[in-house]
Amino acid sequence: MDAIILGCGPVAHLQGLKKDILHAGPASHTENVLPAGGAIAIRNGTIVAIGPEHETATFLFGDDESWMRPDVTSIDGIQIHRLKGQAITPSFVDSHTHLVWGGDRSGEHDQRCAGMSYREIADAGGGITSTVQATRNSHSAHLIDSAERRLWSMLEHGTTIVEAKSGYGLSTKEELRLLEIAEDAARSVPVNVHHTWLGAHALPPEMDSSKDAFDVYTEELVSTQLPEVAEQGIATFADVFCEPGWFSLEQTAYIAEAAVSHGLSMRLHADEFTDGGAAGLAAQIGASSADHVHYSSDVGRAACAENDVLQTFLPGTPYSMGTEQPDVTQCLREEWPFGLATDFNPNCQILSMPMVASLAMQQIGLSSLDTIVAMTHNPAVSLGLPGRSIAPGDPADLVVLSGSTLSSVGLSPGTNPVQSVMVEGAFLDFSE
Ligand code: NIG
Ligand code: FE
Repeated sequence: MDAIILGCGPVAHLQGLKKDILHAGPASHTENVLPAGGAIAIRNGTIVAIGPEHETATFLFGDDESWMRPDVTSIDGIQIHRLKGQAITPSFVDSHTHLVWGGDRSGEHDQRCAGMSYREIADAGGGITSTVQATRNSHSAHLIDSAERRLWSMLEHGTTIVEAKSGYGLSTKEELRLLEIAEDAARSVPVNVHHTWLGAHALPPEMDSSKDAFDVYTEELVSTQLPEVAEQGIATFADVFCEPGWFSLEQTAYIAEAAVSHGLSMRLHADEFTDGGAAGLAAQIGASSADHVHYSSDVGRAACAENDVLQTFLPGTPYSMGTEQPDVTQCLREEWPFGLATDFNPNCQILSMPMVASLAMQQIGLSSLDTIVAMTHNPAVSLGLPGRSIAPGDPADLVVLSGSTLSSVGLSPGTNPVQSVMVEGAFLDFSE
């Protein structure tokens, strides 16, 4: 697709960030934002120029200045899109989602209001276990259909790259089925999905929670589930819910070592409810990302930074549970790389990265540019992809916001601030 976008507002092109390296510290406006009044030129779905409008149009059209006439909508097959100063960012990367599950956990809200903790709800048969039962009882066609609808909604909110975890199957057969379902769903939506095996999410419902149950299940994960997941070839990452009361540091390290030996990279659910040392372990095992990291120690966080482990914050989770937000701004002060993701799951039904941006900006106090880096460049690098930017040579995957400032990405939590989404040079049509 050949196109030019004229009349751009500020464009967060992120060209000042090193392509394959996690960014740490506040991002420079001068190096990463093109001021309003620019244009973006695209050939064959790839960006070929970005800069002041006249210069960029001349690059594409030479002496032909008919592009300046508002009634001209294409020249030589090059589509002309005329904006009215709306801000633009790279499309978003949601690097932590639980995409595929069935059932309904809305009843847990009232249990929380009655004072029950996540652990207590789980012990009473709710939580992950109840979703596992509901998911196992759901037909694959139904799960594919709901996963597709979720991916479309993410896309409408500007996300074009998604990490999707299994984790509600918890048997070899069911985990393989969920990975396959996620892959099937991804096929019909123009979203790039990266798959993670999360067999180590909780104890399967059929196991009683005797003292050594987690050891027994860990052994099953490593000796049976993992080899089949690796053989299936869909997952490129493995994840463990490393938290006191779930998988211990030792069990997590054991699973991680086996997963890495099967060619998978690690991501961890780390220190979500309490500091159990999981961030430090993520650093030790060379994980790509330590996620939640809500209660991680400074030592654990510094170790993550030293070992290029992204700290991925999931502010939708404390929001959904009605608890306080972590101080993400510390990462900026300490120059520790961090990212932001939705953690979409039955307990936190947020599919919108702009909603996460709102929490990061309006509740946690991050600037718009630092938020945008955390929802594009850094999570992409944590997935082993080039950092997201709008520069010559990049795929033309971008988001046009409806507001005239980059801040508008996070200032309308109840409505979608994404006006349009471009994938490979074409604006998507969500009307069907
Ligand atoms: O990231 N904590 C583990 N997993 C999910 C929640 C899963 C669930 O409650 O179903 C999370 O918060
Ligand atoms: Fe999660």
